Amino acid sequence: MAEIVVALDHPTGDEALALVDRLPRARWVKVGSVLFTREGPALVETLRVRGLEVFLDLKWHDIPNTVAGAVRSAAALGAAMATLHTLGGREMMAAAREAAGSLRLVGVTVLTSHDAASFGQAVGRDAVEIGTEALRLADEAMAAGLAGLVCSPAEVGALRGRLGKGALLVVPGIRAAGAPADDQRRTASAGEAAAAGATHLVVGRPITGAADPGAVLDRLVAEAGAGGR
Ligand code: C5P
Repeated sequence: MAEIVVALDHPTGDEALALVDRLPRARWVKVGSVLFTREGPALVETLRVRGLEVFLDLKWHDIPNTVAGAVRSAAALGAAMATLHTLGGREMMAAAREAAGSLRLVGVTVLTSHDAASFGQAVGRDAVEIGTEALRLADEAMAAGLAGLVCSPAEVGALRGRLGKGALLVVPGIRAAGAPADDQRRTASAGEAAAAGATHLVVGRPITGAADPGAVLDRLVAEAGAGGR
C-alpha cells in the first residue's frame, strides 16, 4: 500500500488547518516552502500535535554544512520526511544523511519544470536525455544513503525496478481517471501509482478543492491500499 500525503498548498496556516480539521483520518501532510516561509516551525509543531506525520518539502540545495544544519533542525522539529536536491552532489547528500537521524530524506532529481534543453543549459551540456539524467541522479542519491526519491508517475515503475524493494518513492501528479490534470503533465490514479511501486502519493487539489475533502481522501486511501505492493 501507499500512504496518501495531503499537500497543504495554502497561503496561510489558518487555511491549511481549516482543511486539516475536515480530514480527521489524514495521516500525512506536506508543508512546502510557501507555507513554511510564512508560518515557520510553529505550524509543523501544531500539525505534529494533531497526530500528523509531516513531509517538509523545502528542497534543500546548498553547501554540505548548511544543508546538514537544516536537516538537523527539521529532525528536531519532528518532521517525518524531507526533500533535498540530488544535484547538490553526493557530499551534500551524505552530510544530510548523517544529520538526519530518523528523518527520512528523499531526493528530487530533475525538476518537472525542466525540458531537455533547459536542463542541458543549466548543467552546461548540449544533449541530455531527461529520463537518463533522472536515473543517474537516483543512483547518486541511493549511493549517498538517502531513503528514496520524489518522482513522477511515469518514472515510478522504472525506479522501483532499479532501486529494489526498500527505497521510498514519493509521487505527485495523482488524478482519478478523467479528472482535470490541472498543470500536471504526467498523471496516474492512486491505484496505478501504488501498484507501480510508490510508497507515498502526494495529492493536493483533488482533495483541497473538493466539496467533501474527507470523502475524497477516504476513496484515495482505499484505492492506494488496494493497488499497493
Ligand atoms: O494539486 P496537486 O495534486 O497537483 O499537487 C501536487 C503537489 O506535489 C504540489 O504540492 C506540488 O508542488 C508537488 N509536486 C509536483 N510535482 C513535482 C514535485 C512536487 O506536483 N514534480
